[in-house]
Amino acid sequence: MTTEAPGEQDSTLFTLEKTTASLMEVDAAFRANLNWNYGERKNRIWSLYEKNKNAQWNAATDIDWTPKVRFGEPLNDAESAGLASFVVGEGSPVPKELLNQFRWEYLAWMISQFLHGEQGALVTTARLVETVPDMEAKIYAASQVADEARHVEAYAKYIDEKLGTSYPINPGLKALLRDLLQESEWDIVYLGMQVIVEGLALAATRLASTGFGDPIITSITRMIARDEARHIGFGVVSLTGMYDEMTSAEQSVREDFLLESVHLMSRRFLLREVWERMELDVERGVTFAMNDPMMFGYRQLLFQQVIHLLRQLGLLSPKLRELFLSESLAKPEAFRGMA
Ligand SMILES: [Fe+2]
Ligand SMILES: [Fe+2]
Repeated sequence: MTTEAPGEQDSTLFTLEKTTASLMEVDAAFRANLNWNYGERKNRIWSLYEKNKNAQWNAATDIDWTPKVRFGEPLNDAESAGLASFVVGEGSPVPKELLNQFRWEYLAWMISQFLHGEQGALVTTARLVETVPDMEAKIYAASQVADEARHVEAYAKYIDEKLGTSYPINPGLKALLRDLLQESEWDIVYLGMQVIVEGLALAATRLASTGFGDPIITSITRMIARDEARHIGFGVVSLTGMYDEMTSAEQSVREDFLLESVHLMSRRFLLREVWERMELDVERGVTFAMNDPMMFGYRQLLFQQVIHLLRQLGLLSPKLRELFLSESLAKPEAFRGMA
């Protein structure tokens, strides 16, 4: 990755709109509120807010953007090892001569999904500013919105100026974002964004920080992972204890939402869009991604964090556990000790 990317001179050649439908509109009915009780500024969410302010960084100046990335160029072993190595070897849908192309496409796909997920976090967390009742949650959410804006900026800049190609949003992620923007219960927005999407994003971002052998991606993902860990903390602190007081009808609405969103997110990791773009046998690719032991291990690693968070919140119901097992997102050991 030492030579100049095509388009680096003129990044307008590669605007994201070329490969992504430019606008998705979602109509919603929800209750916004103002709260005249400003609280005592002493609880855990206020201290998380304080941390957020101190941890602000600047995507334009705190990342070294100088390394060159040349999309499609042959990679050396060090650069190409890591995250994409699961397609090497027996049973792989990718022929040997296309391995290099696969690694680049996989990078572009992964970073594109990170970018779309960040925009989802930006907009759904902005909604929370309006709908959560407590002042500390409104203020924390507002500071998270600023973090998400920076995350969008960093990934969009990388795609636009370094890769020059991108992927549209994965249909599963798109469906979940649509659900969240139509949702009228604010705690369900937290569950979908701060628990499911950000829980998965934190794990995936940490793995990506070393998995692509690209110093710019390493810096971006390391900076972002630190922010995401605080955002998840915000979700967990906000929701802790809440479900103990709910009626069983209210709990079952949450369970249905979680079943649907875990299902949608599990579809995200079958790489359908990559197999399509490379004009490979899509069904063979999906079956491979579903059954390959390394891909299985990767999905389990990603969902581990989500399972841990749901367990902490008392939401890991038998039906959800069953879903994690049937969609190969966890091994039975993940639920050890649970009735
Ligand atoms: Fe983010
Ligand atoms: Fe976040």
